[in-house]
Amino acid sequence: MDNNSNSFETMSVTYGERDQSPAPGVEDVVVPIHLSSTYSIPRIEKGMSLEDVNADDGEYLYSRLANPTRNALEHRIAALEGASHGFAVVSGTAAIATTMSAILTPGDHVVAFEDLYGGTKSMLKRFFNERLNVGVDFVDATDPENVAAAMRDETALVWMETPTNPLIHLCDIAAIAEIAHAHDAKLGVDNTFLSPYFQQPLALGADVVIHSTTKYLNGHSDSIGGAIVTDDDALAEEIGFLQQIGLGAMLSPFDSYLTLRGMKTLPLRMRQHEQNALAIARFLEEHPAVDAVHYPGLESHPQHDLACEQMDGFGGTLSLELATDLDGVVEFLGALQHFPLAVSLGGVESLIEHPATMTHSPLTQAERDALGITDSLLRISVGTEAVEDLRYDLDTALSMISTTDTAHPTTTQS
Ligand SMILES: Cc1ncc(COP(=O)(O)O)c(C=O)c1O
Repeated sequence: MDNNSNSFETMSVTYGERDQSPAPGVEDVVVPIHLSSTYSIPRIEKGMSLEDVNADDGEYLYSRLANPTRNALEHRIAALEGASHGFAVVSGTAAIATTMSAILTPGDHVVAFEDLYGGTKSMLKRFFNERLNVGVDFVDATDPENVAAAMRDETALVWMETPTNPLIHLCDIAAIAEIAHAHDAKLGVDNTFLSPYFQQPLALGADVVIHSTTKYLNGHSDSIGGAIVTDDDALAEEIGFLQQIGLGAMLSPFDSYLTLRGMKTLPLRMRQHEQNALAIARFLEEHPAVDAVHYPGLESHPQHDLACEQMDGFGGTLSLELATDLDGVVEFLGALQHFPLAVSLGGVESLIEHPATMTHSPLTQAERDALGITDSLLRISVGTEAVEDLRYDLDTALSMISTTDTAHPTTTQS
């Protein structure tokens, strides 16, 4: 049995794997990729049911229900978030849909952060609201009072993400948990941006936490996956039913293996992401061609105190507003060598994206304006490369817009 008193670093490397040996006498150090879709069982017994086959006792029946590689991952994610139940599903989107489906029924109401990942907002609007008749209110949750004001008798779920993307707004998890629980509602938190290494929402009062493991947990931009963790036994029962039977959206053995492997270096990577991101944020903040930098590790971030209180680190994602227009942004992006233009984040390689034309292009101009998503806004997922290389690359690209484009006077002030 694994020892739950191990430190985060030790559990990241080994937790959950040693129990999943492929055959008696074969003591793999790393869990194998168990590809078999079905398993032979020793015998049938009168009155036997599916519930009698218990993967936690090393008994397996069919891979959709339980798979040793996936179970190793589920045990590790639960341990790292300090939870008693973990589920690995086919994407972060599936983690959100499965969790919400386990909680909501028609007529219920959800209070959600207006700054959520766009896919989550679309899911809440088009699927839960329009199709399943679940009421949804999006609020500015940077102030918990706005959450409190939106609560109704029918509110069954409060859904938060912190920090948000791309403007890096935070919400106070403990304060919002109190509000949710006072109304008998559950609090769900998308912890994708920080990973359990930097933030543990269950310890702050959340009832359920989800991840897009596609991002920092796997960390190598080579797998799409999701995870759900909770301490709530009844909720876990419902999520397990949906994962295995109601929806069947479990993670494949191969993706489970990749994510287990990626998670071995989670603490090392997160520390390097943060160190690089802080150095880049400080450099950009001082640069005359940059109007604003959004990163919770900067003292200038309006919620820096909350970040220090509820997070153990500031993460690896930041955004900046260039002092130029769309043409200047295009020039800047074209001059970069170390920042491929791509959506997603959390991999060891740095990426840059332009929310107005990429992740947030489905929004109307008015919606983008209301959220503060301007044409000059860029999001950077800062990787683990040498920070001098990243800084040099940014500096070179910034100096090119200021010297080559005289149509942008704000960039020529240095
Ligand atoms: C915060 C957040 N949650 C959830 C998701 C969805 O994850 P996936 O792409 O793995 O479905 C994303 C994707 O970008 C995200 O940024």
